[in-house]
Amino acid sequence: MRPETKPCLIHLPKIEDVRGNLTFIEEEDHIPFKVQRVYWIYDVPGGEKRGGHAFIKQKEFIVALSGSLDVIINDGAVENKFHLNRSYFGLYIPNGLWRHMENFSTNSVVMVLSSTAFEEADYIREFTKYLSFLKNEKHGL
Ligand code: TYD
Repeated sequence: MRPETKPCLIHLPKIEDVRGNLTFIEEEDHIPFKVQRVYWIYDVPGGEKRGGHAFIKQKEFIVALSGSLDVIINDGAVENKFHLNRSYFGLYIPNGLWRHMENFSTNSVVMVLSSTAFEEADYIREFTKYLSFLKNEKHGL
């Protein structure tokens, strides 16, 4: 699968069955990276926001396994909102984008597949630093 350069919703296979539905993900087939890490977010109190950072290297794929949430992506110029509310599609986010999550429904469970192991040095946690990062990237620094 060719790596997308923009965030995009990816529909996953859904095996419908009277006994219950089944969905799966295969790395480098349904999503354009090898999975190094899986984590999930749950028990989010009403009104909370998460994220609010960019990754230098990490690519990710976010699925609302249960409930719903909004993922807001900012590329330094334009902001886009993606509503995730089904477990058979998810949002692919390439590296180098600012993102946060909000509007979590009660009892939502959000799974994140990541292309890297956890590394704090990969985070840009201040928006002004993110804008400087973009500027430097543009000038090949
Ligand atoms: P963080 O990614 O900042 O959460 P969010 O983006 O949802 O606000 O992670 C919160 C804390 O958890 C932070 O101290 C780093 C730690 N953490 C790990 O140790 N391993 C992980 O895989 C992740 C995602 C976070």
